[in-house]
Amino acid sequence: MKKKLLTFIASGVLISIFLTACNTGSSTSKNKAESGLSANDVVIPANAPDFLSFDDDFLWGTATSAFQIEGGRFDPETGEELRGQSMWDRIAKTASGAHGDVASDQYHRYKEDVKLMAEAGMKVYRFSISWPRLFKDTSGYPVKGGTDWSTMKFVPELDDNGDYQPVAPNAIAVQYYRNLINELKYYDIEPIITLFHWDLPLMLYAFDGGFDSRFIVEMFQEYARATFKEFGHEVKYWTTLNEPSTYPLLIQGTKNIDKQGWILSKYDTKDKFGFDDYIGASLDRVHNYLLSHAKATSVFKEMRSTGDIRSDAEIGLTIDMGIAKPASDHPEDILATETYNEFKAGLFVYPVFQGRYPDKLFETFKNRNSDYVLHLSDEQLADDLAFMKNNSGDFVALNYYSRPVTSRATVDTSHAAGTTWGWALAQPDDGVFLDDIMVVDEGAEDTLMTNGEYDPQGLYDTLMWLYERSGNKPIIITEVGAGFVDGDPYGDVVTSNNRVHDYMRTRYLKGDIKACWQAMEDGVELFGFNVWSILDNFEWSFYNRRFGLIYVDFDNDLERIPKDSYYFMQSVIKNGGLDKVN
Ligand code: BGC
Repeated sequence: MKKKLLTFIASGVLISIFLTACNTGSSTSKNKAESGLSANDVVIPANAPDFLSFDDDFLWGTATSAFQIEGGRFDPETGEELRGQSMWDRIAKTASGAHGDVASDQYHRYKEDVKLMAEAGMKVYRFSISWPRLFKDTSGYPVKGGTDWSTMKFVPELDDNGDYQPVAPNAIAVQYYRNLINELKYYDIEPIITLFHWDLPLMLYAFDGGFDSRFIVEMFQEYARATFKEFGHEVKYWTTLNEPSTYPLLIQGTKNIDKQGWILSKYDTKDKFGFDDYIGASLDRVHNYLLSHAKATSVFKEMRSTGDIRSDAEIGLTIDMGIAKPASDHPEDILATETYNEFKAGLFVYPVFQGRYPDKLFETFKNRNSDYVLHLSDEQLADDLAFMKNNSGDFVALNYYSRPVTSRATVDTSHAAGTTWGWALAQPDDGVFLDDIMVVDEGAEDTLMTNGEYDPQGLYDTLMWLYERSGNKPIIITEVGAGFVDGDPYGDVVTSNNRVHDYMRTRYLKGDIKACWQAMEDGVELFGFNVWSILDNFEWSFYNRRFGLIYVDFDNDLERIPKDSYYFMQSVIKNGGLDKVN
């Protein structure tokens, strides 16, 4: 039997599993053929104008995250540590031996990078603050008993009124981010700050299991407050936490990372379990993640109303999702897809925007395993959900890469384990969700692409779904993009005259921009589009998985070379849109 690459998509972070061919592939192809569409085109009506235009104030930009791009871990001259350890320092080391000490070195080259953004006409730049850089030693929370993990205690200092006494952030870090912000402003590029893009201070992970513990909600709130205080007069756009689906479930959810952040063992096939088990076992973590968003948002609103940050500042949560589509129009497949979307996307979207978890979700998990419950009283849960709904934010930020195709078909799940992420070894094994819902997406069969099938129609569907379910909140896309492993024939081709051809990435972006245009035509209030990423960077343990509009030569002094996709984005921004047919 022929081997196929089955992809399980969790936002951009993709897990690929070699699966023995199964009979569901034919239903997918049949559906595509029957619908009269070539695979994965965006449906743009025939009467649409020839040129698909966007308003001048549409926020075109790119996105990065601190650990993936900054480097700047040590002062090159003195050897002094410039940021504290994050859990990723350890995970990456164990997984691949790679580290983020230098990464793409934006810490030292931000002027060059910002200039390249400006030359492309970018209006915004989304980056994240490194929590362990801003608070090198204490995570922003007063520590008693020193910073030895075995003895320390996080204890807030309270003044006579019982108010929390903040710890001062690391001045060198504040200066770095201020320089970056000033450089962006110089070119009229608006910063978008993400408070947390996964690089949890290692001590928080080691001390109390990071987001496993409800205590983190308070710590995150104080970290957020300190960050707003430092940069809230300059920065208009903020997002709180990156990707509530990927981080709590897949990153911190990997069972075999120990309390000190070391990966304990390589993937053990005997130990594998399905994605629904991951969600079931992670409910507290998900809840704490979402509640952290609400707490930070509440502080933000308070500071906005008292003039402690800009009065026009806005905040939102960066949600990762791709609404699934049915493998066929068979009623069973449609029902499976609806259930999948309700549970998998609803788990994150409903509490934040509607103040409820998806109906029957907890019951379903409890029936699977009596441990799969939220460890909260009914009163506390009701309070939290009401608080979340009142503090959902001003907009929704969406990360979209691809989306699953779902079915209730029975398949042969025997497979050889294999993932595109060496480190992420305790991942969902076979794509089975809720026992009988199968993710049958065939993925990008002939490429080493790292983030799922080209499916801009999925972006359109996701925007429509999210806009409606979030109560018509304005949406900004904080990530779309395409990653290819070095050597992929569809990936980056560097020529001798220093050009980088990346046809497939450009094609992705065209499709995604068209999907955005159509969603806006159909009523979605979308105000920005950020490509992941401006530069090739540290793709969570590897440097050979490239997502950048700009190539980084990791073997040659980190030289930056704009790719064809960079010039494509430059033309879209300059022209204010793109041709319908191109
Ligand atoms: C994450 C990024 C990641 C990208 C590509 C997104 O899910 O936010 O950190 O690099 O996907 O995998």
